[in-house]
Amino acid sequence: MAMIEVRDVRKIYTVGEQKIHALAGVSLDIDKGEYVSIIGPSGSGKSTMMQLLGCLDTPTEGSIILDGMDVSRANSNTLSWVRNQKIGFVFQNFNLLAKLNVYENVELPLIYANMPGRERRKRTLEAIEAVGLMERINNRPNQLSGGQSQRVAIARALVNRPKIILADEPTGALDTQTGETILQLFREVSRRGNTVALVTHDPDIAMETPRRIELRDGKLVSAQESHYHRFKQAAQAEAAAEEPQPVSIVEQALRGDMNNGGNP
Ligand SMILES: Nc1ncnc2c1ncn2[C@@H]1O[C@H](COP(=O)(O)OP(=O)(O)OP(=O)(O)O)[C@@H](O)[C@H]1O
Ligand SMILES: [Mg+2]
Repeated sequence: MAMIEVRDVRKIYTVGEQKIHALAGVSLDIDKGEYVSIIGPSGSGKSTMMQLLGCLDTPTEGSIILDGMDVSRANSNTLSWVRNQKIGFVFQNFNLLAKLNVYENVELPLIYANMPGRERRKRTLEAIEAVGLMERINNRPNQLSGGQSQRVAIARALVNRPKIILADEPTGALDTQTGETILQLFREVSRRGNTVALVTHDPDIAMETPRRIELRDGKLVSAQESHYHRFKQAAQAEAAAEEPQPVSIVEQALRGDMNNGGNP
C-alpha cells in the first residue's frame, strides 16, 4: 500500500480577482520507504505540494491519503494531530529556535506530544546520535555550521519517529559537499523504512534519489517529456562508456536498484 496517495489534486489560490492554479490536477503514489525528489521550475507548485502533503493546508479539490488516512477534508485539529504523529519537516533555513540548544531544539516536538520525561530524553538522545551531533548537544544554533544546523533540523524531524519525512530545499543553504552528507542521511532514513520526499530545483540533487516527481505549471511531467529523464540517460550512457571493466555483483545489484526505482 502507498504511504502517500494523491488523487486529482487541485489547489487554487484566489488573490483579488485572480485565480492561481498552483496545482492543476495531480495524481501520484509514494510507497513506504521510498526516497523521491520533487522537482520543477520556480512557481511549478513544489512548495504547494509539500504543504498539502505536510497537512499545513488542504486541497481545493481531490484527495490526499497519508498512511491510509484521508486528510484532504480534515479539520485543523486533525491536521495538527497528523502532522505531529506522522510527519517530520525539514526546511531550507533550518527553522531552529535560537534560544534553545541542540538538545532542546530536538526535544521540542516530544514536549508538544506530551511524552513523559524519561522516554523523551531517550528519544532525543537517539535522534541526536543518529545525525552524529552528540558532542554539540549544548550548543546553540548560532554556534553551529550550516550543515550541523541542518542535521539538528533532521534530528528534530526524526525524533517523533514519523513515517513521512518532507523536506523543502533542505540543501539550498548548504555547499555541495555538506549537501551530500545531508542527502546520505535522508537515504539512510528511507532505508530504515521511512518515506522521504524532498523538493529541489537542482538536477544533480534530483539524480541522487531513485525517483523524481517532476512538476510544471502545477501538473506532473511524464517521464518521456522529462528533462531529467534525458539527463539521467545521458549520464548513464556516459558512465557505461567510461567503464568497460566488469563490475561486481553487489555493484550490479545497486545499479539495478537505482535504475528501476524510477518506474514503479
Ligand atoms: N499563498 C499563496 N497565495 C497566492 N498564490 C500563491 C500562494 N502560494 C503560492 N502561490 C502561487 O502558486 C504557484 C506555485 O507556487 P509554489 O510556491 O508552490 O512554487 P514552487 O514550485 O515551490 O516555486 P519555487 O521553486 O520558487 O519555490 C505560484 O504561481 C505562486 O505564485
Ligand atoms: Mg518553493
